[in-house]
Amino acid sequence: MKVAKTIPDFRRLRRKLAAPVGFVPTMGFLHDGHLSLVRRAGAECASVVASVFVNPTQFAPNEDLADYPRDLDRDVGLLEEAGTDLVLAPPVEALYPEGFDTWVTVERLTERLEGASRPTHFRGVATIVAKLLNLVRPERAYFGQKDGQQALVVRRLIRDLDFDIDLVVCPTVREPDGLAMSSRNAYLSPEEREAATVLYHALQRAETIYATGERDAVTLREAMTEILEGEPLARPAYVSVADAEDLAELETVDRKALVSLAVRIGKTRLIDNTVLPPGQELT
Ligand code: PAJ
Repeated sequence: MKVAKTIPDFRRLRRKLAAPVGFVPTMGFLHDGHLSLVRRAGAECASVVASVFVNPTQFAPNEDLADYPRDLDRDVGLLEEAGTDLVLAPPVEALYPEGFDTWVTVERLTERLEGASRPTHFRGVATIVAKLLNLVRPERAYFGQKDGQQALVVRRLIRDLDFDIDLVVCPTVREPDGLAMSSRNAYLSPEEREAATVLYHALQRAETIYATGERDAVTLREAMTEILEGEPLARPAYVSVADAEDLAELETVDRKALVSLAVRIGKTRLIDNTVLPPGQELT
């Protein structure tokens, strides 16, 4: 495995890779969720490229950019073990040089859910993903369902900008107690870590009552909110039952739905989701 820290080095090493190339973009501090994408790419592609880059433009000024956990040496070891061929790990100036002034915005899809409370977040995500896809030129790009809205935004960007790339959305990897793996889980105190399972419990509640035949979206949202309210450390930001295509809130779950939530546990903001009917792929 090679690690490139500059764009010229990356381009030189990229030329030697056999096609098809699978690409896994990350912000590092890797866990089994990230590594599941790398392994899937390895199983489906001749070569695997991963990037480790904490993208400053997707963080708002009041967010956790400075505190975001970083450990490149550990990440490099994990990526190698998981079967990566080439890692792109550039400094910020390499991707955002002085005078950088071009942005990619996906419009309607980013106005809801995460985008509603983080108005510049998806502009940063779409811009860095477009730049990385142009640099890496993979045949396939691997993203996690964990960030459900992000996966839908990337699908739109790939279509609208005519990238010749297949998007593969992989299932959310969870801790044994159901908490979705996330680099941000590292912020949780032991007490908060225990409380954080409430996101999964709320989603499970929605799945259970859907399985009994409930299709009223208001009832589903209320049932999830009730579970969240039972956890004193949890402060919900949103609880959504939305059309999985355009993310418009549903009245009745009569089509594929993205059931998603964002919850603050102490200072940490966590997100999670599930798709209804169960077992359906998001994209
Ligand atoms: P990051 O949060 O590091 O996540 C990188 C990829 O791993 C994303 O596609 C995310 O959905 C996936 N992932 C994270 N946790 C997962 C889990 N528990 N199970 C399965 N997949 C999981 O998402 C980003 O970085 C950035 O926004 C990025 C796309 C790299 C652009 O900066």
